[in-house]
Amino acid sequence: MFHSLLVDQPDPIIVTMQKYHADSRPHKLDLGVGVYKDASGHTPIMKVIKSAEKALWEQETTKSYTSLVGDSAFNTAIQKLVLGDLASFDGRLASAATAGGTGAVRAAFELVHLASPDATIWVSNPSWSNHASMLDYLNIPNQHYRFFDPSTGTVDMDGMMADLRYAKAGDVVLLHGCCHNPTGLSLSPKQWDDIIELMKTQNLVPMVDIAYQGFGDGLDEDAYGVRRIASSLPEVLIASSCSKNFGIYRERTGCVIVVSPDQKQTNLVQSKLSLVNRVNYSFPPDHGARLVTMVLNDPELKVQWQNELGEIRQGIQSLRRMLSDELQRQTNSDRFKFIAEHRGMFSMLGLSQEQVSRLSDEFAIYAVSDSRINMAGLNEASVPLLANAVAKII
Ligand SMILES: Cc1ncc(COP(=O)(O)O)c(C=O)c1O
Repeated sequence: MFHSLLVDQPDPIIVTMQKYHADSRPHKLDLGVGVYKDASGHTPIMKVIKSAEKALWEQETTKSYTSLVGDSAFNTAIQKLVLGDLASFDGRLASAATAGGTGAVRAAFELVHLASPDATIWVSNPSWSNHASMLDYLNIPNQHYRFFDPSTGTVDMDGMMADLRYAKAGDVVLLHGCCHNPTGLSLSPKQWDDIIELMKTQNLVPMVDIAYQGFGDGLDEDAYGVRRIASSLPEVLIASSCSKNFGIYRERTGCVIVVSPDQKQTNLVQSKLSLVNRVNYSFPPDHGARLVTMVLNDPELKVQWQNELGEIRQGIQSLRRMLSDELQRQTNSDRFKFIAEHRGMFSMLGLSQEQVSRLSDEFAIYAVSDSRINMAGLNEASVPLLANAVAKII
């Protein structure tokens, strides 16, 4: 039977990783894969996570199943982290722990499909490639809206609004909460407001994928958009990931949250989220969720976490400024000024595929084929090397 299977298009990020690993040049530089790295190129475990793990080892008395939607303390802790004050959401929040942010996105997509099979999900162009892959895999109608203006490195607001005017009532608009992957753009308060107005007028349902909360301007600052949406519209889908901001990538920790207009609909949604987990993997992973809950519910650990996350954020920001300045110096132009304005780990340099290939062939510098680079893959020594390579190929 398997002979009928078709070969998949390889994921561009995985292709970059494979090429990097096959390169034997000692000075090679990996700016492809989307994980945080410190100045020595290592992805460290946060100290606060180590402390929580130690305490958990001492306290944990059973590894029996949790509930189908995970531990309720985890769900509440993430609801607070993402939405802030929960007072106005009484009886309106359903949620489930999931296998990473990917699991949360997938659960939200499946919920939309169960509730409204004809709804189209509108995805930014570009976006995290797995959004479209999952939608196609699930046979969910999907369309792109313009989002990025490569000539300025900014949001193409006019294009976005024009494209979304074609969305029909009940369609879902997928937005990145902050630090858009792959462009590095965070929407401004005014841009959020304009999008909210459009969604209200056209009766569209927002879905916010927030995978980098705390990597942009701060935990609350990065949640501005999702909180504003949740306080302005009756129905919202949210996918939150703990992979990056707690550095627990392989623990697979995420949470899907759904805001509904009333308790009755919340109960319906809650039961469907249980079903979606049940048919996919029964019980969600618990280890990472438990660590996150311990950190968020212990005032001392929480401060320690905020400090560690703050250092990561400031480190990335400082690399952004360094690279932007160095590119300005080496190219003698303002073309890459946007890098300092972007947020989170990624920026797209606006290079052609051929130029990206030259970066790897001639300089052993690996970026994704759409010219996305992971800022955290750089350090003080490699910033001038990248700037020099870019200056030579443009
Ligand atoms: C926009 C976006 N959403 C979701 C995810 C999924 O993250 P996780 O590793 O928690 O599944 C990612 C990870 O790269 C992402 O960039």
